[in-house]
Amino acid sequence: MLSERAQSDIRALRARYPVAQSALLPALLRAQEELGWVPPEALAEVARLLDLPVEVVAEVASFYTLIFTEPVGRHVVQLCTNVSCLLSGAEEVRRRVEERLGIRAGQTTPDGRVTLLAVECLAACDQAPCAIVDEQRYGPLTPEAAVRLVEELP
Ligand code: FES
Repeated sequence: MLSERAQSDIRALRARYPVAQSALLPALLRAQEELGWVPPEALAEVARLLDLPVEVVAEVASFYTLIFTEPVGRHVVQLCTNVSCLLSGAEEVRRRVEERLGIRAGQTTPDGRVTLLAVECLAACDQAPCAIVDEQRYGPLTPEAAVRLVEELP
């Protein structure tokens, strides 16, 4: 499933660390970079390449919201719904973005353009309410700015 190049990159990551677990998150991100998400077959491949039990790899993959274990749209919008963001208006941001996209958090638009996720703290509480769109962080967001952000995604 993973290309020779990706497999080779993951082997190189493994060689960089004294223990395989340390290479796990970057290896999963490398798999995701290639496939857009990390399906069960890729989890198994990462486990084989790092010589780790597949259960360990699956646990780590499901723990981090940056690792997608379900197919996602071309763009992923992650809205923080943790306490600092909630207190700064994240609920209204989420409501307005859901309304604009016509989906609820956890869903993908029917055209496959945007996946919207409600996630835990993005470690940017000083920028609350905030979001990560693909790999870029935005905040503090007004509901209007958040709607504009998703409207402008190609
Ligand atoms: S609570 Fe939203 S970034 Fe920390």
